[in-house]
Parts: sequence; structure tokens; C-alpha cells
Amino acid sequence: MEVFDTLTKFQKVLNKNHTNRTIGCVPTMGALHDGHLSLIKQAKNENDIVVVSIFVNPTQFNNNSDLLNYPKTLEADLALLEQIGCDIVFTPSVLEMYPHGEVSESFNFDGLELEMEGKFRPGHFDGVGTIVKRLLEIVKPTNAYFGEKDYQQLLIIKKMVSELKMPINIVPCPIFREANGLAMSSRNERLTAEHRDEANLIYKCLLNVKSDFKKKTIKELNSEVKAIFKNHSFFDLEYFVIADTQSLKPAKSINPNLEYRAFIATYAGEIRLIDNITL
Ligand code: PAF
Repeated sequence: MEVFDTLTKFQKVLNKNHTNRTIGCVPTMGALHDGHLSLIKQAKNENDIVVVSIFVNPTQFNNNSDLLNYPKTLEADLALLEQIGCDIVFTPSVLEMYPHGEVSESFNFDGLELEMEGKFRPGHFDGVGTIVKRLLEIVKPTNAYFGEKDYQQLLIIKKMVSELKMPINIVPCPIFREANGLAMSSRNERLTAEHRDEANLIYKCLLNVKSDFKKKTIKELNSEVKAIFKNHSFFDLEYFVIADTQSLKPAKSINPNLEYRAFIATYAGEIRLIDNITL
């Protein structure tokens, strides 16, 4: 496994040794868990070589303490990547990725950026778009892998790649869960043991919504979820939304020709968690 922290060396190797080979790219912010590893395994099965980037992108954090506290476990990450057979790891510095200062481009993602996370994390998707565009321009992968836990991010990246006419296939990867159902996330490491146990409530709630989806109205489902979280002292629900899987517009009633997902964002103590499910 080769590890590069500068752009010039990294690009030199990519251009010299890997032309005419399919490249699978898995962009990450490190603190790798089994969810990331499942993306990397899929990339390994579907490409000649796999490039993983580890970069905690400052411009996508709208909250400075979240950025400062984001787990950084580079040595352990590299050991896992070596073990799993990753070919190349790119671990650039902030200066390398933002030579002209930590500023995001402004994107128009057709309104996708205004829903859910966009409402609560202003500027987040401009930051994600900026860094993912830059990484994809550098790596020029055949396939790039993104988890469905960040479903809104996945749609936005698909949109960006199609608008920019980048010849890259964006591959959605299923949510990976801990034994109790909590969606895997690097942020889970920061939960107290008690909050981590109790956080299975999120998935339980999503499963209930899924089983009641055809039996109840959207209004009833919304009220039920809000009531469950309200009665729980650990959680502070930020949003629960049932939205169609293409526009992400909140549904008021069900159109049988559309597909839907339910989305949750909640604080468990200090830690913000998100999850979603197909309905
Ligand atoms: O999902 C993430 O880990 C990040 O948003 C990404 C895609 C690596 C961009 O920084």
C-alpha cells in the first residue's frame, strides 16, 4: 500500500502507473469503521485499484467544535487499510487541498441542498461539493463510492457529477449498522456507552415507520416519531422527514408513483446522528 500526503507525488504515481486501469475511489474523513470498510471491499471487487482519501474537510463543518472534536485516528486507519488490501491512500493537508484559503465554491444542486441537512447545516453541502469535486478531479476514478447513510450527500454528489459531465460512476452503498441497529458513523465513537446503547431508538423508530407506512397518514407518522423522541431524555430531535427519494421534498401525502425514504437527525447528548430508511 502506498501512502501520499502531497498532491504532486500522488498524481505522478497515478498518471505513471495506473493509466488504463479502473480506479475505485472511496473519499473519507478517516476514523474508519466497518461501514467504510464495506465500501472499500466493494471498490476492491469492482476495480483494478482502490484509492482511499482521508481528509477532514474544514469547509463542510458549520460548527467549529464539531470540526475540532472530529475523531482523528490516522495510524489505526492506515493499519486497517493495509489489512484490507487498499492500494493507495491519499492523506493531504488542508493547505494542499485549499492552497488559496479555506473557502467553498457555491453550488446550485437544484434545491436538494435546501432540504433537511441543508436547513440545519448552512454551507455544509457547498463544502462537501468543493472537496468531492477536487478529489474526483485529482483521482479521476472510474467509480466513486458513497454510503446511503448520507443519502442527501449521495444525491447531491450524483447531481454535481452529472452537471459537470464527469465520466465517473457514483456507486451508492447500503447503510452498515452496529449490532443494536445504530447506523455506523465515525461520530459514534464520541457517544457515551449509555447513549450508544440507547441510540438504537433511531433505527427502531425508522423500522416502525416502515412497517406503518401503508397503514397511517404522513401526519400521523410525523406526530408519532416526534412524540417518541420528546419522551426520551437523551435525545433532541432536529428533524424527522418522509421525503421522495429524488427531490427530497417532504411528502404531505403519498403518490404511488414515487418512492420514499424516512430521514432522522437527532442529538444524543452533544453528538449529532443521522439515519434513514427506504419505505
Ligand atoms: O461522507 C464523508 O465522509 C464526507 O462528507 C466526504 C464525502 C468524505 C467529503 O468530505
